[in-house]
Amino acid sequence: MTTLSSFFLLLCIIAAEGQIFRRRYGPPPVDVPIGRASSPVWGNITQRVDHFNPADKRTWSMRYIYNDECFKSGGPIVIILGGEWTIAIEGLMAGGVYDIACENGGYMFNTEHRYYGKSQPMSDWATENLRYLSTDQALADLAYFIKYQKENVKALQNSTVLVIGSSYSATLATWARIKYPHLVDIAYSSSGPINAKLDFYEYYGVVGDNLALASSSCFEVIKSATSEIETLLETEEGIANVSRLFKTCQPINVTEPSRSFFFNTIADTFAGLVQYAGPGDIERGCFQIENATGSNVEKLASYIRTQYGDSCMDSYNTYVDEYTPTNITTDMSRLWLYQICAELGWFQTSASERQPFGNTFALDSFTQLCKDLFGEKYGEELTSFSVKRANIFNGGDAPEISQYISVQGSGDPWYPVGLLKNLHPTKLAFFVQGSSHSADLSSVSESDSTQLRQTKLAVRETITKWLAEIK
Ligand SMILES: *[C@@H]1O[C@H](CO)[C@@H](O)[C@H](O)[C@H]1NC(C)=O
Ligand SMILES: *[C@@H]1O[C@H](CO)[C@@H](O)[C@H](O)[C@H]1NC(C)=O
Ligand SMILES: *[C@@H]1O[C@H](CO)[C@@H](O)[C@H](O)[C@H]1NC(C)=O
Ligand SMILES: *[C@@H]1O[C@H](CO)[C@@H](O)[C@H](O)[C@H]1NC(C)=O
Ligand SMILES: *[C@@H]1O[C@H](CO)[C@@H](O)[C@H](O)[C@H]1NC(C)=O
Ligand SMILES: *[C@@H]1O[C@H](CO)[C@@H](O)[C@H](O)[C@H]1NC(C)=O
Repeated sequence: MTTLSSFFLLLCIIAAEGQIFRRRYGPPPVDVPIGRASSPVWGNITQRVDHFNPADKRTWSMRYIYNDECFKSGGPIVIILGGEWTIAIEGLMAGGVYDIACENGGYMFNTEHRYYGKSQPMSDWATENLRYLSTDQALADLAYFIKYQKENVKALQNSTVLVIGSSYSATLATWARIKYPHLVDIAYSSSGPINAKLDFYEYYGVVGDNLALASSSCFEVIKSATSEIETLLETEEGIANVSRLFKTCQPINVTEPSRSFFFNTIADTFAGLVQYAGPGDIERGCFQIENATGSNVEKLASYIRTQYGDSCMDSYNTYVDEYTPTNITTDMSRLWLYQICAELGWFQTSASERQPFGNTFALDSFTQLCKDLFGEKYGEELTSFSVKRANIFNGGDAPEISQYISVQGSGDPWYPVGLLKNLHPTKLAFFVQGSSHSADLSSVSESDSTQLRQTKLAVRETITKWLAEIK
């Protein structure tokens, strides 16, 4: 989705992005100019497994990367926070944060989030062993990390600390500034959800808005097709036909939550298209649908099939079987699923009327998935309690925070749970029309819209100004 020019090598930081049911890959890629002499280095720091029980002395090794190539004496510590993915050195070699760090003589770090990548506190991912996978523990890891670097790298003793995150790691950047203001001086949140929420129906509402904006007829085709599929799934013959058209691995199972899962799989394809859209991407997707031959159902099916290539569309049961094993693996979806079931909610249901997928995947299907993956305890009551708890602890949609910048885009379905109110000169929220998930994190570029470019420059200026004021 990013233009591949001959001068830039496209390097994707592969990450399990947090979609319940289906998975998608993000945050946005980092373009590293070929031949850039940059030298990020890997490091480890020993952390407690449980920061909130001093009698528990178990430890583990947290991984991080650092790059001091731009550091100037007295410069800030710039920490890119890891989220639900494996960290990679490219993140400290190029991009908008690299530019900000270098402009200000910063010492760059990229921390890996506990349980992700090689930063494993426990021997496996059994539900019992995931109890230390929480934002509270991850934020405490960061507190110790900052203290450690200030004590161990003499040149950083008095450095101002800037933390930056994208998506879920922007949630952490926000909460780190709120919880540890004596350790974190400035936070920059790119597409950061901050309001935990059980039924995040607004997500697909924004997906619908963006589809309709790109092409209202495309929106209507999806809407009619969905409603026709609902009717077809009422008969055996219809089930057989829809299964064939959508190339499902087994005939569609119309018992819940399997039925919901099928519709969610279709909707998720469009969520991915919208969330990571570059200019023209949604229009191109819509054109593919409208230009296909046949009925509305056939048009939709033909588009969905191209997203699957040679493979077939799997079922709820297969999905549950895939994420039930507790082995540590490179596919980290089980971990993110645990985080939303146990703490954050953000279940992207079909309850909004602004989207074309009917009300075909309701809250129940998500809470059932949590129970199927983590045990009966992890039902709606637990998630509902945890979501409220997270907002009591962190401020929900109206956090008390300063030296804080939030950037969101109208093309990013996450924006409704981001910072939208109670703004003031040290609590800034930029809202970029047409901009997708964390599009503000790349370097200023020719292909930026005017507003995106202005926002990137304003973020840079503000951070530079705050760094100068704090010093
Ligand atoms: C970090 O720790 C891991 C596992 O304990 C070890 O394999 C690796 O060599 C360490 N890396 C560094 C840079 O110390
Ligand atoms: C940090 O501040 C202390 C106290 O002002 C000073 O003695 C020390 O040299 C400073 N360290 C650095 C690396 O600037
Ligand atoms: C199923 O597909 C067959 C072959 O295209 C068609 O003849 C039949 O009418 C379809 N049935 C339904 C219920 O759509
Ligand atoms: C259909 O889905 C239900 C609910 O998920 C499940 O219990 C059942 O085993 C599934 N049937 C088949 C044939 O896979
Ligand atoms: C539109 O559909 C026609 C007929 O199927 C096909 O030949 C053409 O390549 C399609 N156009 C695009 C841009 O995909
Ligand atoms: C997971 O662990 C089980 C039991 O230790 C083992 O049999 C299986 O091969 C492992 N699976 C993977 C994908 O590593």
